[in-house]
Amino acid sequence: MSARYLLVLSIVAGLVAGCGKSDTPAVPPVPTPAPSVAAPPPSAGASVSVNAALPAPSPESIAARKLDPEKIKHGAAVYGKNCASCHGPNGEAMTNWREQGADGRYPPPPLDGSAHAWHHSTATLERMIREGSPDGGMPAWNGKLSDQEIGDVIVWIKTLWPDEIYDIWYKEIEGKQK
Ligand code: HEC
Repeated sequence: MSARYLLVLSIVAGLVAGCGKSDTPAVPPVPTPAPSVAAPPPSAGASVSVNAALPAPSPESIAARKLDPEKIKHGAAVYGKNCASCHGPNGEAMTNWREQGADGRYPPPPLDGSAHAWHHSTATLERMIREGSPDGGMPAWNGKLSDQEIGDVIVWIKTLWPDEIYDIWYKEIEGKQK
């Protein structure tokens, strides 16, 4: 079984177990990828059928995102100005984001596909950004950012997600077929 297959399996398991109650920091386990020496050489043959079921990211799957380059560019600017200070320049957050602070709040989580921002549909992300989380320390952006700015920043956030994550999100969360 390939490391990639295991990774996706645990992501799916995390998806099921993850987003439980909003008051628990339910975060799917994000396994560290196995060192590349563990991967069988391309000629090994034994794991070919597993790999065939889960194609490696290809230009085709990246193109399938169909994200508008203008929105990505505009969203990146909105993000850099309003969100990067808390969530990190590339949505990576701070390494201590799982640790509850003295005030009972958690630091801003990553948005890059390593936490669970990607467990939310576009409509839910939009609502979360609009309403914020008064108890959790996320500002409400309604009235501060236009509809277009909120829409574009979500498009930019989606560019941060690895192909595997995006594919699962697209089918399981957004409920779309290719
Ligand atoms: C002052 C710091 C701060 C700023 C600025 C900020 N956020 Fe957040 N954000 C947070 C915190 C803290 C949370 C976690 C809230 C909670 O746990 O209730 C959060 C949560 C989120 C979530 C939900 C993540 C998840 O895993 O479910 C999204 C999406 C998000 N922020 C997007 C944004 C966007 C987009 C911007 C810029 C427009 C932004 N944030 C600006 C602090 C911030």
